[in-house]
Amino acid sequence: MEEATTRDSARTFTVAAVGDLHYSDESRGSLSELVRTVNREADVLALLGDLTTHGRVRQVEQLVEDLAPVEVPIVCVLGNHDHEAGEAKEITRTLCDAGVHVLDGDSVVIEGVGFAGTKGFAGGFGRGALAPFGEDLIKEFVQHALDEALKLENALRALNTPVRVALLHYAPTAETLVGEPEIIYPFLGSSRLLQPIETMEADVVFHGHAHHGTRHAVTAAGLPVYNVALPLLREDDEWVHLWTIPLPDRRGGEDDGSGETEAVGPEGSVIDEELHR
Ligand SMILES: [Fe+2]
Ligand SMILES: [Fe+2]
Repeated sequence: MEEATTRDSARTFTVAAVGDLHYSDESRGSLSELVRTVNREADVLALLGDLTTHGRVRQVEQLVEDLAPVEVPIVCVLGNHDHEAGEAKEITRTLCDAGVHVLDGDSVVIEGVGFAGTKGFAGGFGRGALAPFGEDLIKEFVQHALDEALKLENALRALNTPVRVALLHYAPTAETLVGEPEIIYPFLGSSRLLQPIETMEADVVFHGHAHHGTRHAVTAAGLPVYNVALPLLREDDEWVHLWTIPLPDRRGGEDDGSGETEAVGPEGSVIDEELHR
């Protein structure tokens, strides 16, 4: 995947984003149209978690096999389903071995565009967000959301690229959940994830997890948020959401124009790919 070169058309950069592939035995061979679209239209494929149905290594191995024809770099975050079987570390290793950039509080620069990602967590939104009060279990639940927010903040801080893309599985805002039953909003995301994205001035955020939400919203601060859960995209007969921007100047990015990518550690240092998980 590191050798993959990005297309050089009209100085634009296109992210193909999709979440919730939920791969299983029945999914084999189902991504041929997705792969064709990505290879034809995009410079990078971003996968927004729930890559597998039950978090089994076998399922991600099948996914990796079906994504092998993808000719552009792939970045991803894991989702809650990818943790179901307690095999998240092995899933991450399988993806990394296939050249996929798995972002878990990490960053990567591709063609001068910075990507920062983490899974995120639940807890609700605004004044309705779960507060760290009472039982230890409640405090631990809230703390996990805060930890995920801090991981994303550090990952974004490590990027000094002109364009920064934030990747999450859980939603950072309720606006892209509209369409889901309101009673389950607190399980679909947390507004605690939004603050670091806006503080670090990311340009866009993609998430999944809300299969029946709303595809696009803009926060009060003007941040575009895209829900790219596959079931939602399929309602519009699409396999990926394509997001195109003018290709940024090379200033600030570590990219040398060769099409290769670099992983960036929390302090902005380049880290070994083996540690990038
Ligand atoms: Fe999902
Ligand atoms: Fe999910």
